[in-house]
Amino acid sequence: MSLLEVGRTHTCGELRREHAGATVVLFGWVHRRRDLGARIFIQLRDRDGITQLDFAEELGAEAYALGESLRSEDCIAVRGKVADRGENANADMATGEIEIKVTEVEVFSKSQTPPFVVADDDRLDAGENLRLQYRYLDLRRPVMQHNFRVRSQIGYLTRKSLAEAGFYELETPYMVKYTPGGARNFLVPSRIHPGQFYALAESPQIYKQLFMVSGFDKYFQITRCFRDEDLRNDRQPEFTQIDVEMSFATPERIFAPMEALMRTLWKEILDVELEDTFLRMSWDEAMARFGSDKPDIRFGLELNDVTEHVRDSGFKVFDGAECVSGLCVPADKAGGLSRKVIDNLTEFVKQRENGGAKGLAWTRIGEDGTWSGAVGKNVRPEVQAALTEAMGAQPGCVLMFIADGWHTTHTVLCNLRLHLRDQLNLLEGNDNPWRFLWVTDFPMFEQNDAGQFVAAHHPFTSPRDEHVDMLVSDPAAVRAKAYDLVLNGNEIGGGSIRIHRSDVQAKVFTALGLSDEEAQFKFGFLLEAFKYGPPPHGGIALGLDRVAMLMTGAESLRDVIAFPKTQRGQDLMTGAPTIADDPQLAELYLTHRDLPASSTDE
Ligand code: AMO
Ligand code: AMP
Repeated sequence: MSLLEVGRTHTCGELRREHAGATVVLFGWVHRRRDLGARIFIQLRDRDGITQLDFAEELGAEAYALGESLRSEDCIAVRGKVADRGENANADMATGEIEIKVTEVEVFSKSQTPPFVVADDDRLDAGENLRLQYRYLDLRRPVMQHNFRVRSQIGYLTRKSLAEAGFYELETPYMVKYTPGGARNFLVPSRIHPGQFYALAESPQIYKQLFMVSGFDKYFQITRCFRDEDLRNDRQPEFTQIDVEMSFATPERIFAPMEALMRTLWKEILDVELEDTFLRMSWDEAMARFGSDKPDIRFGLELNDVTEHVRDSGFKVFDGAECVSGLCVPADKAGGLSRKVIDNLTEFVKQRENGGAKGLAWTRIGEDGTWSGAVGKNVRPEVQAALTEAMGAQPGCVLMFIADGWHTTHTVLCNLRLHLRDQLNLLEGNDNPWRFLWVTDFPMFEQNDAGQFVAAHHPFTSPRDEHVDMLVSDPAAVRAKAYDLVLNGNEIGGGSIRIHRSDVQAKVFTALGLSDEEAQFKFGFLLEAFKYGPPPHGGIALGLDRVAMLMTGAESLRDVIAFPKTQRGQDLMTGAPTIADDPQLAELYLTHRDLPASSTDE
């Protein structure tokens, strides 16, 4: 009888000393192979682990001969006896106490020499493009197997946790009406309706609000979202949200099941007990203290706005600046800040992607309290004293300042702070590796480059009750019932309480410069639904991929998405996207316009 029919008795991660003497059947792939002539050792791998196999002629000549022919990544079955390795146990392997004395082998299929060594795993030096081209082999690597086990557990535990909390799992369409604003959409041409298009949903936002109008009370969905954005390590064009909406919600009523979900995930998957309630911080406070709406609060080095102190400092860089703010690197961390290092930091802050400061003003405080450099020479002594006090500076500290517009100053200092975290090892000795934070009360509006107000979250986000009257008079000051969940400086979720009153919604549209007709044209079906007794409601969406990335310690979303796109939006395994041929296009009433040269080059 073939071993396939016999069936496996154990996985490759399961056997321990107490199994010694048992006859077992294992299935898996040849991970590594060591040929000592009279003996061949093979590590057999499946998704659950690795087990050492021992092939020797005296155990079975036929099996030994087959063993000799095996190569990396062949898919095989073996039968043999579990032997205690005694003193030779390998402490680095979960199954290291035992090995299998192989008496029978069945080769299910041979592998060509793979383009990279799957067993190299962490030390893999293959480029990412090669890995993505042979993604099915890349996914065989034990780290990847681990990442996707975690991802699967996140899905399972999310369903369990939210179902137990009374949420219905409901689906919403992917092919939806195009609504402007928000992320750029992918379009899907309609064959039946020439010249017309669906959009791929950037999120289920409007549908989940309609579910509340429908009376479903509590909804969740683990769903794909599609956004045609510029890609980065933490952004993919299709990604997965844990999407949630609740009727009769307040922010706290949404935070509670989300915190419970996070606690369940961390407990069940990482065996980590998270704190009972996560910290909350307003957007204004987060920006003032960290220059960021997603601050990493695992370390200090907070911003100090000293604009008021340097109004008349004597230093031309500070004088007249809209905003001057600084960091105080404490003496015990400032040792590494040589002149050359600070010159590099100056180049860092000037780079556009780091915020584009005009320079970095800095000074080192001597043991006698004197300030070095241009800042020390120019800033008047009484201003120095005020700054020392305001920033809590001590001898040996290095102070760094940015003078610029409010926005630039905060962006640059936020980036500089994170850069110093890594450069000066500021996380060393940190005793809480998981710092969750709710950032609340986001501004209702942002101004685009043309100075127009646009919705910071989306146009259905509710302003704080006491700010409704400012919607038209002072939009920039309006704060919204909008919140993000932040983990170690990463935005892992965001949501808001929605508007359910048409008078408030009308004011928001006015602030956004949307006429009644435009609002009707864009969102008419939602506004119509809101005429039929909508409950107060709100929700949130968590980025499941980002949660998986942080839980596994992966550096990129691509390591937790099975078949991801490259930074240029390509699937290197299948070659997507590809050019559509003329008959295909004709059926959709589309034609190629002149393509830019770059569109056909790869
Ligand atoms: P938002 O746009 O903030 O909110 O998205 C929610 C969360 O989804 C994750 N995320 C992404 N992950 C990977 N790749 C991307 N391109 C990407 N974009 C977003 C982030 C983010 O916090 N409908 C609202 C939610 C609501 O109001 O209920 C929404 O989609 O972790
Ligand atoms: P300068 O007098 O232009 O040579 O600048 C003196 C110091 O101030 C240098 O260290 C510059 O990097 C720094 N500097 C210049 N402009 C700014 C600015 N807007 N904010 C902070 N530092 C600046």
